[in-house]
Amino acid sequence: MMGARGQAGARESVLAYTDSTADDMRMLHADIWGNEAHTLMLGKQGIVPAHDVREILTALQEARREAEAGEFVMDARLEDVHMNVEAYVSGIAGAQSGGRMHTARSRNDQVVTDARMTIREELTDLEAGVCALADAFLDRSAEHGDAVMPGYTHTQHAQPISLGFWATAYAALFVEDLRRMQASYATVNRNPLGACALAGTDFEIDRDLTARLLGFDRVDEHALAVISNRDFIIETLFALSMLMTNLSRLAADIVYGTSYEFRMWTLDDSYAMGSSIMPQKKNPDVAELARARAAKVSAGLQAVLSTLKGLPLGYHSDLQEDKPPLWEALDTSEGTVGIMTEVVRTMTPDTDRMLDLTYGNFSTATELANYLTREAGVPFREAHDIVGKLVMELVDRKATFRDVAMCDEILATHGRAVGVDTLKAVLDPAAAVRRNRSAGGTGPESVTAMAERLKAATDTHAAGVEERRAAIDRARADTARAVASVVDGADIGAALGRCG
Ligand code: ARG
Repeated sequence: MMGARGQAGARESVLAYTDSTADDMRMLHADIWGNEAHTLMLGKQGIVPAHDVREILTALQEARREAEAGEFVMDARLEDVHMNVEAYVSGIAGAQSGGRMHTARSRNDQVVTDARMTIREELTDLEAGVCALADAFLDRSAEHGDAVMPGYTHTQHAQPISLGFWATAYAALFVEDLRRMQASYATVNRNPLGACALAGTDFEIDRDLTARLLGFDRVDEHALAVISNRDFIIETLFALSMLMTNLSRLAADIVYGTSYEFRMWTLDDSYAMGSSIMPQKKNPDVAELARARAAKVSAGLQAVLSTLKGLPLGYHSDLQEDKPPLWEALDTSEGTVGIMTEVVRTMTPDTDRMLDLTYGNFSTATELANYLTREAGVPFREAHDIVGKLVMELVDRKATFRDVAMCDEILATHGRAVGVDTLKAVLDPAAAVRRNRSAGGTGPESVTAMAERLKAATDTHAAGVEERRAAIDRARADTARAVASVVDGADIGAALGRCG
């Protein structure tokens, strides 16, 4: 479209290399809405005559209809969505009117406007999905909360925990992801329009008006900072990277937990895959792919950070490369959150097996050491030593904590017999879980209290998501109403006065 310094077009090879229309398709609706708001503002400020505003808005309505029908075709020779929509408008409204739409604006502020508007809608959808994921864990906790399972450190049996404790741990991680997404939303939802190329403009524009029409929380003020910065994309990519990292850990828990060696969970058959050769296989492909796809998202974060690093202030075409990793991260996160929620809701715990595992490998050793310290006044380090020796002895004799009488005999040789009944209670994994009453611990009161707080957090978040969506929808409807009444011949000031 535009060769160097206004000369005839660039070479085909250059156009093919620089074309961003495919990546920009995702911002088409935002671009049209942005053009409507900008044009209304130009009209209200008297920068563009009312007649031309009407022509432009009429053409934009047509563009919107085509976009909504999925029929808006972009020409790669026009470089990007902005030039395509402008060319479309001029094609209908004529160059005398259409050629005025890009007054007091640049593609530099336009592209970040479109990107911010696109991200905020996708982010709210994703947040709603993460609320549902956290809820799935809270439901699993309510269902099987008191079941006892081994807690692991170093993938070795550590201490017994409840299934409710395990499930609420994931809910807690995902509530933090929601907090990060909401924080990046606040960075995203600001109005860059009016920054123009980098320096603002000598036209008397009204940036508050476009902010209002586009549903932005406020104006992002500093023109040079606005067109240079991509912090809103980086914050979003970080929030998604952390979310996907948490999901990759869940994936690992599922891959191991469903293996024959652990056998703690069974995947629903419809969420597992077979093998082309081994008839017995039931593979956790969804979890494995989720685990791997987390890499693409954090790689995307790294790509944009590295693109920005060392870049002088101002707009550079380097910045055009922010969108492919962003779109990929949004798609990957959305898909992974959805399918993993289904997996979590449909997998079945084997609670007998879980309990059995807690007995087999000395998972209440710490509880016994704590007992000796609390009830017999033994310094903890000495108690740790005694219980360690007890475990070594039991391993030698191929025994476990289930052999309580033997345990007490061995303790007696260290002068620390506690009595079989007491010892039985101390070493019982379910009783041990119930005794861990410290704040945030695995005891049932603590888990119930945490589950309630986490439920309140996801409910509040879900309500906030709905409010943000409603605010966007209101702004969209207000703009559409103003456009329609101007197209119908109403005075621009009056049309704008009636909205918002
Ligand atoms: N396609 C460009 C991008 O995505 C739009 C901005 C182009 N600005 C420019 N001065 N070439 O960043």
